[in-house]
Amino acid sequence: MNAINPTLVPIQLGERSYSIYIGEGLLGRSSTWDKLPNAPMALIVTNVSVAPLYGEQLKDALKQKYSRVELLCLPDGETFKTFETLNLIFDQLLGSGADRKTILFALGGGVIGDMTGFAAACFMRGVPFVQVPTTLLAQVDSSVGGKTAINHPSGKNMIGAFYQPELVVCDLDTLQTLPTRELSAGLAEIIKYGPIADMSFMQWIEDNLELLITKDVGALAYAVQRSCEIKASVVGVDEKEGGLRAILNFGHTFGHAIEAGLGFGVWLHGEAVGCGMVMAAHLSHKLGLVDEAFVKRLTTLIERAGLPVKGPKLGAQEYIEHMRVDKKAQAGHIRFVLINAPGQAQVMGAEDTLVAQVIDQCCA
Ligand code: NAD
Ligand code: GLY
Repeated sequence: MNAINPTLVPIQLGERSYSIYIGEGLLGRSSTWDKLPNAPMALIVTNVSVAPLYGEQLKDALKQKYSRVELLCLPDGETFKTFETLNLIFDQLLGSGADRKTILFALGGGVIGDMTGFAAACFMRGVPFVQVPTTLLAQVDSSVGGKTAINHPSGKNMIGAFYQPELVVCDLDTLQTLPTRELSAGLAEIIKYGPIADMSFMQWIEDNLELLITKDVGALAYAVQRSCEIKASVVGVDEKEGGLRAILNFGHTFGHAIEAGLGFGVWLHGEAVGCGMVMAAHLSHKLGLVDEAFVKRLTTLIERAGLPVKGPKLGAQEYIEHMRVDKKAQAGHIRFVLINAPGQAQVMGAEDTLVAQVIDQCCA
């Protein structure tokens, strides 16, 4: 297999601009970290599953730049994306005598990235941090764009901040240890970029899905790069989701209801988003925005990616209750990201009766 050339995707946010560095063998290479700010101490925040795989490699590389490097190992899972776990990061920082120059490294998937970013935003009112995403989902979505958060029992990612990292490093080698189910969850967020922004990318995913599933590094490199380019172009225009950025939540309104309704962690976030996209496509069709062929095309791709296309039978009323606490809702009115035309999304409301019909149709 030929080595791939590393790429840099810029994210243009004025003085908060940074790069997404995509390639192989990046994590353990000291030059990867050369341009980061100097600091008396670096703290790697990771979890019990990722630490044994990549913790020491990153620690050794960072020791070339930082005289003190500590590693904090958190419990693993969406159920631990809580205030209590967040507080463990503050305990470690305060116990180690960290100061305002201390730099945090989020080594792991979206859960670690979101929590570490939020800790960085809050600790001493803001310290620098770096995203080192090790899941496909985190490399194509959660590590980019500065959304950081923890969950509240009543809703997902309800407590958080917009806070941009100094750098995102996507080491494709880390994806080789990712379980199949997690890979599929990441594919959901990759697929998302097609219907909302780039149908030629959707065609590419359809043509290259088997390569992605078998973790072909060239295919993964392109999928991560193109996803990051699309996300960077949206975030560059609307960093704090005043409007356009909401399209990145295609499938998320239904998806968050599935996650909250079943209890966080029962379905993976990407699985809920995959199924949520099917439901949102059906709703788009019911509103006359797209034809049935488009709904079928998207559903087939999501199914081929190993993702569920039928939602859990929670009952339409329960879905609707959960969707009312979605961050896009306004004055209790649910707003959905719908597909206007293939490759183009818009945020809009829909009658509860129509939404209930879609839920009944799409749940097994
Ligand atoms: P995750 O962080 O729970 O990681 C999935 C699992 O894979 C975990 O068990 C983790 O320990 C394990 N893992 C991580 N890297 C591995 C590797 N290289 N090899 C083997 N195992 C590995 O889940 P996720 O799918 O990465 O992220 C989901 C989270 O991201 C959700 O909380 C979601 O809300 C959030 N998210 C945030 C944004 C954002 O913009 N901030 C966007 C999308 C999703
Ligand atoms: N994942 C949605 C966003 O970053 O806006």
